[in-house]
Amino acid sequence: MSARAGLRRHTTCGELRREHVGRTVTLKGWVHRRRDHGGLIFLDLRDRYGITQVVANPAHSPDAHATAERVRAEYVLAVTGQVVARPEGTVNPALPTGEIEVVADRIEILNPSKTPPFPIAEETDVDESLRLEYRYLDLRRARLQRNLLLRHRVVRFVRQYLEERDFVEIETPMLIKSTPEGARDYVVPSRIFPGHFYALPQSPQQLKQLLMVAGFDRYYQIARCMRDEDLRADRQPEFTQIDLEMSFVDVEDVIDLVEGLYTEMFEQFASKPLKEKPFPRLTYAEAMLRYGSDKPDLRFGLEIQDVSDVFTATEFGVFKNALAAGGVIRGFAVPGFADATRSQLDQLTELARSFGAKGLVWLALQQDEGRLTARSPVAKFLSEHELATLAERFRANPGDLLLLVADAESVAANVLGRLRNQVARDRKLIDESVHAFCWVIDPPLFEWNEDEQRWEAMHHPFTSPRDEDIPLLDSDPSRVRAKAYDLVADGYELGTGSIRIHQREVQNKIFSIMGYDDAEIERRFGHLLRAFEYGAPPHGGMAPGLDRTVMILAGESSLREVIAFPKNQRAQDLMLGAPSPIDERQLRELHLCIVDTEESSTTGA
Ligand code: AMO
Ligand code: AMP
Repeated sequence: MSARAGLRRHTTCGELRREHVGRTVTLKGWVHRRRDHGGLIFLDLRDRYGITQVVANPAHSPDAHATAERVRAEYVLAVTGQVVARPEGTVNPALPTGEIEVVADRIEILNPSKTPPFPIAEETDVDESLRLEYRYLDLRRARLQRNLLLRHRVVRFVRQYLEERDFVEIETPMLIKSTPEGARDYVVPSRIFPGHFYALPQSPQQLKQLLMVAGFDRYYQIARCMRDEDLRADRQPEFTQIDLEMSFVDVEDVIDLVEGLYTEMFEQFASKPLKEKPFPRLTYAEAMLRYGSDKPDLRFGLEIQDVSDVFTATEFGVFKNALAAGGVIRGFAVPGFADATRSQLDQLTELARSFGAKGLVWLALQQDEGRLTARSPVAKFLSEHELATLAERFRANPGDLLLLVADAESVAANVLGRLRNQVARDRKLIDESVHAFCWVIDPPLFEWNEDEQRWEAMHHPFTSPRDEDIPLLDSDPSRVRAKAYDLVADGYELGTGSIRIHQREVQNKIFSIMGYDDAEIERRFGHLLRAFEYGAPPHGGMAPGLDRTVMILAGESSLREVIAFPKNQRAQDLMLGAPSPIDERQLRELHLCIVDTEESSTTGA
């Protein structure tokens, strides 16, 4: 609620305008900047709502001026004075309060401040560990104030959107039993049961399914999740999901709901328009073929194609061998990049190798006396016909560069997908003026775990197979597709979801394909399977990541910029100093053997 009308407790630093000239007000806030002009001292007073200029004039109030001489940046003040129009020529159009200033009758120092370790008022780059250590000061700065207020508004919007559609918000516990999201659990030792542990939820997955069994029909939660996994800019050990689950639905219902939510959300909060709506849908197979990724960035082209068939009779050993080994030849064209220097091309080749390729074939297309030729170390191995067919397939012309990889299908897809992203960044081919969403649907139900030599659930083991693929469970698990869907935006996986299995026999079958025996099934999932025997409705849901959503809306590239108190890349809270050793008494109480805390605190530093 605005304090504008009443000037109740005090006036905020963001609300005074020309129409308030003549009023006497009290402002409370932090000293953003202080400028001493000899006679006059100007103080920019800041609070969450804005900045107002205060003038301390010795001729008007010697006391206020004397106090203003003592204040420094980030002091907390109460200022009482009259709102006056700024003199001609000193109006600041960049500031909403820029037409007025407050001439101080009285300045009270409510609290002094030490000099902050980095400037609050300037948007300068500050070492991130320092920002994290003094997060409460970092949070005073404009960028994080903006981002966290945006996050608040987005959450409020999500709640309203879902509640208008009959969703109920239900909290689920933090101390639970391990869930199968696939990351490592954070665990909490039990004091009462020696050697027993709670797991912190990787997501409320099983609990929300149990809420469907309980008949709540439509559940959501702004849910905190904890995963002990390797961190990246778009991964935090603690994060938040917009977790939802619905009964009596199929894939289309969940997709419709979430697409509606994100369309409205982005139209309301994003600074850029949506590239396409409704969101395009790609099957997983298509996404892997055309973009080499299950989270394709559709803000640029550089589409990958399979050109294996062009080389069925090739003389080029690398391609011939790859095909003979059951591999594929794929690639993409980079428009206008035939003038790449040798060192740029060597770098691309190195990059491809670092992504797991054995090498990279590049062909810089040229026109030679009216004929299409290519500058390339392997040009001599390619026939004129092969080259012409390639150019035609990629719709490439002289002046374009072709990049090809020959390898096992999954390697070729992955290498080219990553190369595609890198080339787009380097060549500035990403259309930064839009947000490009898409759905990636029908992924495989299982993936093969080479290390453990067994099938694993690609999403989680409660994901339903597509009805028409159920017969394949017995014959060829690799070809079974899941009723699962991922929401992707600008190359980020925003959320994943699926229709769940609600019949006990199908669930048992899946577990047995994954190699779980009855004892293990009972130990890990007994509670859920028992619940399913009491009339589980068909159900499904999804969980978009809130942090990633706000990160994209805010135009940030790290989750740490949209989380109030994030962990660093080593999962430490530098402000609180967590993790930290606990004392021996606590360890004993928890029946944990006493580790050398000296050592663990140094290795943890
Ligand atoms: P999943 O594990 O795919 O699915 O997670 C869903 C979404 O949560 C976000 N996310 C993360 N965000 C920040 N840091 C992390 N470490 C992190 N891990 C995941 C992502 C991701 O797309 N229970 C299922 C969903 C369901 O089937 O309903 C689940 O948790 O945005
Ligand atoms: P080599 O015969 O290994 O010297 O490779 C000849 C050329 O083919 C080099 O430019 C390599 O980068 C490239 N190359 C080798 N293996 C592959 C592969 N699997 N896919 C694409 N290019 C390759």
